[in-house]
Parts: sequence; C-alpha cells; structure tokens
Amino acid sequence: MKLHIAVLPGDGIGPEVTAQAVKVLKAIAMAFNHVFTFNHALVGASAIDKTGTPLPKETITICEKANAILFGAIGNTSYDLNPNAKVRPEQGLLDLRKKFDLFANIRPVIAYDDLLNKSSLKKSQIKGANILIYRELTSGIYFGEKKLSADGNTAYDICEYTRNEIERIAHLAFKAAQSRKQKLTLVDKANILESSRLWRRVVQELAPQYPQVKTNYMFVDKVAMELIVNPKQFDVILTENMFGDILSEEASVIVGSIGLLASASIGKDHAMFEPIHGAYTRAKNKGIANPIASILSAAMLLDYFELFDEAALIRKGVEKSLKLHITTPDLNTKYDTITTSKVGDFIEDFINNPDETNLNFTNIHLGQSTII
Ligand code: IPM
Ligand code: MN
Repeated sequence: MKLHIAVLPGDGIGPEVTAQAVKVLKAIAMAFNHVFTFNHALVGASAIDKTGTPLPKETITICEKANAILFGAIGNTSYDLNPNAKVRPEQGLLDLRKKFDLFANIRPVIAYDDLLNKSSLKKSQIKGANILIYRELTSGIYFGEKKLSADGNTAYDICEYTRNEIERIAHLAFKAAQSRKQKLTLVDKANILESSRLWRRVVQELAPQYPQVKTNYMFVDKVAMELIVNPKQFDVILTENMFGDILSEEASVIVGSIGLLASASIGKDHAMFEPIHGAYTRAKNKGIANPIASILSAAMLLDYFELFDEAALIRKGVEKSLKLHITTPDLNTKYDTITTSKVGDFIEDFINNPDETNLNFTNIHLGQSTII
C-alpha cells in the first residue's frame, strides 16, 4: 500500500516521540513491502515562533494532500502561565480537528498484565480492564461561543451540540461496542445540562438499532469515581468533548503511565493519530519521554487502513518491550539507561526479527538495542 503521511511533531517531547513512531512505520513499510512517505510540517508553539501562527497554511496544505496525519504534542508552559496571550499553541490543534472535521476521538485504555504493578491502583481492581473511549472532538464547550466582557470581569464558554453531531459519533461507538463486549455507557450530566439531555435523548433513540448492545447511562461525576474503583465494568464509553478529555486522562492511571495512551481522531475523509499526552516541556530532549503512545498511535493509523497484521506486529513489539523492561523511566525500575530512541530501536528490531523461537531472542534485542 502507498500512504502519504503528514508528520506534525509539534512542541516539547512531540518531536522525539514522533520520530520513534516514524522509525517504526518505516520498519513496517520495509517488512511488508509498503511505500510510506513522510512530510513534516510545523504546528503549535514551534509554528508560532517561526511563522506567527500555530497552524500555518503550508501545514494545512501538507495535511490536505496526505492520507493521514501523525501528530506529536502541543503546548508550552510559557503560554499556560499567561492567560492574556493573544495567540495560543493549542489553537493549532483545535483548528486542525475542526478543519478536517475529525469528530470522533478514539482512546483505548488497556491494563497490560506486565504493568499492573505500575498503576497506583490495586492489581485486582485493574487486571483485565479494557475500555474504548469515544470522545466527541469538534464541538461542545471547546468550540462554542466564548466571551470576555469589556471590563474583563465576566466570561462564558457555551456548550452547544446538534443532533447530527451526536448521532454521527454515537453510531461509531455503538458499532465498536457491537464488536467488543456489547456494552456502551453514555457519560453526561443530564441531571443539570440541557446539552447532556440532548445526548441522552439521541442515544436512547438510536439504541434500538443496536439490540445486541446493552446501553447504560452514567453521570460524569459518578464515572470519575467508578473509573478508579471498578474500571472493568466499562466497555465502550461515549461522551462529549470536555468530559472525554478529562476522563481519558484520568483513565491513564489504570494503565500505569499517560505515556502509553494512543488515540485516533477520525472524520469522514480525514484521520489523525496522536498520543493523548501533552508536550511535557520539562522533559524535552532528555531522552526520558515515553514513545509508546506515539508508536501505538501509528498502530491505530495502520488499523485505519486495514493493515491489521502490520498493526498487530507493532503491538506485539510494544508488549515485548514492556515484558523485557525496555521502557523509559516513567515505567522502568530495572534499567535506568533506556532512552526514548532506544525504545524505538527495540521495536524496530522486533519488527525486523520477530521470530520468538530464536533462543537468543532476548539477548539479541537487548544486545542490539539497549544495553550496549
Ligand atoms: C488532548 C489535549 C488537547 C485537548 C489540548 C492540547 C488542546 O489535552 O488532546 O487531550 O484538550 O483536547
Ligand atoms: Mn487532554
């Protein structure tokens, strides 16, 4: 298959983790005889520094011409500390999502057996947890009207949803639930918010079209607790933009590190793949950033193009790296020398040499990729 991939590394640790995902995709292309081309473009604070805008026209053109976008991270603490900034890096990401109508953000949360002791939660609580979050990504409070009064003392952000915006992501979430454990939980605040009541009405109306799926409804404050107390009760979670942002970050506690959570943002004609973590500016260029979220985002990219064997091989490489402790310091207590790029090298090696019947497998990979 021929794929043109727009690579938008962005800010902070974005470039170093994205470089590992590109490395892994190149190995996949070689191993499976595909042709993947990569076109890099600016976004975020680094784009503001060079061009004055967080989403330059040239970046949009590169994305328009690509089959998919691989995104790194966005943001910079200098903007976070300045509520008066006229232009913000995050606007680049929001504009990309809106421009390409990437309305469904899909975030898998999986408790890996080899990482159960890395979570702050009890093993017995999380073992076997496997949740797929469908977060609406192009509407709601993120994109509603915003206003700051002339005297600077009053402000609002409107949370607005249309039936169509809810229906299109709900159908995707129902279909995903159908092919999993057949359970869908709509997360809202329908006891308070009119927009949530619309979500509930629309999902209740659609539910009969998916008779195999057991649909249930839970308020977001309760979900915030249940995700920690009993995450195994969830299969597919469907929710609006901001609830999904917050809950997915909370859910990373189940997995052991936010550096493991990948996502796909899907529209009708475009798709973007990005880790859920942020720019983590303090870690930039230290070699300590976990590239797994970016590498797993690359696997989601391959799934999107139905390259399932290829995606599965990446995931196997990731699982192997976790098993052998070939991980960055956020997860590693065994070795403290394993850098971002060494994790990428290991998974690249694994793709080139996945034969586990080889008795020297561990040594080969450790030798080639990590210890020396
Ligand atoms: C995410 C991020 C973004 C969001 C920011 C960087 C705009 O937190 O993708 O979860 O809030 O959607
Ligand atoms: Mn977030």
